[in-house]
Amino acid sequence: MRFPLYRPRRLRANEGFRSLIRETTVTVDDLIYPLFVRPGSGVRNPIRSMPGCYQLSVDELIKEANEVKALGIPGVILFGIPEKKDEVASEAYADDGIIQRAVRAIKESTPELLIITDCCLCEYTSHGHCGLVKDGVILNDPTIELLARQALSQVRAGADMVAPSDMMDGRVKAIRETLDQEDYSHIPIMSYSAKYASAFYGPFREAAESPPQFGDRRSYQMDPANSDEAIREVALDLEEGADIVMVKPALAYLDIIYRVKVEFGVPVAAYNVSGEYAMVKGAAQLGWIDGGEVMREVLLSIKRAGADIILTYFAKEMARFLAK
Ligand code: PBG
Repeated sequence: MRFPLYRPRRLRANEGFRSLIRETTVTVDDLIYPLFVRPGSGVRNPIRSMPGCYQLSVDELIKEANEVKALGIPGVILFGIPEKKDEVASEAYADDGIIQRAVRAIKESTPELLIITDCCLCEYTSHGHCGLVKDGVILNDPTIELLARQALSQVRAGADMVAPSDMMDGRVKAIRETLDQEDYSHIPIMSYSAKYASAFYGPFREAAESPPQFGDRRSYQMDPANSDEAIREVALDLEEGADIVMVKPALAYLDIIYRVKVEFGVPVAAYNVSGEYAMVKGAAQLGWIDGGEVMREVLLSIKRAGADIILTYFAKEMARFLAK
């Protein structure tokens, strides 16, 4: 294929040709919209660092879920801000916890919408870590028992899929075994398998009111320098029973998404995280970039890298664009 026989520009000359040879498209079916739920009623608190995103009380959440469904987005992932935080994350696995109530409410009002629940303790612990803490150390095995309890209570409330995001070792196995014992063998697990210790989670921690009160998450989340380790993490989660594996964040980790897709050929999700969203929104507000164009390019790049599913705060905006 040599010039002048091959002239790539021929098939770029007009939109007709371009659309014929286009390799990647993002559709509304690829998107999952994250939502934050908190106690109260009539609450719609804007999240300062995430323009267009809100902490919602259950009544407001129902309206939002309806809108999401009407836009054709297949599912939401829910994060909870509990009434009260404590050392052992009690509200994470309480039957009347904020997430459990939210799940029941959405299931009643919008039954066809897929409800995914984030399974992690950091929003519910007073110290803000994703596991139980003893003498400043984040404990693994006692934590996975609680995560399994949390997953079970979310599923009992009606969650369609659970998504463990804590990065404790062995949690997928613990959750799978617990769900199977309780006759929930049909409920899939989407594991945050390669989750990095990333500064891109900053705005989320404001949204979920979940920053660690001491230290950081580097003893459980992955070192951004590593990529072979991501492959080992994914292999482990698949052996333990994960149905969908996730890479997170997405944009600074496109190489990881690609490797995971190529090496395993399983459904891959990518989380276009809060900081990635904030960067685009911030620069767009300043008039430095075209926010809509950049959003589309970002989502396209994540899909092109190999993601089948994109969790993104852009989901509604993208769905509106696609509907035009
Ligand atoms: C909970 C969790 C986090 C995110 C998703 N689940 C925060 C963290 O690990 O600190 C981040 C999502 C985002 O930044 O949009 N562990």
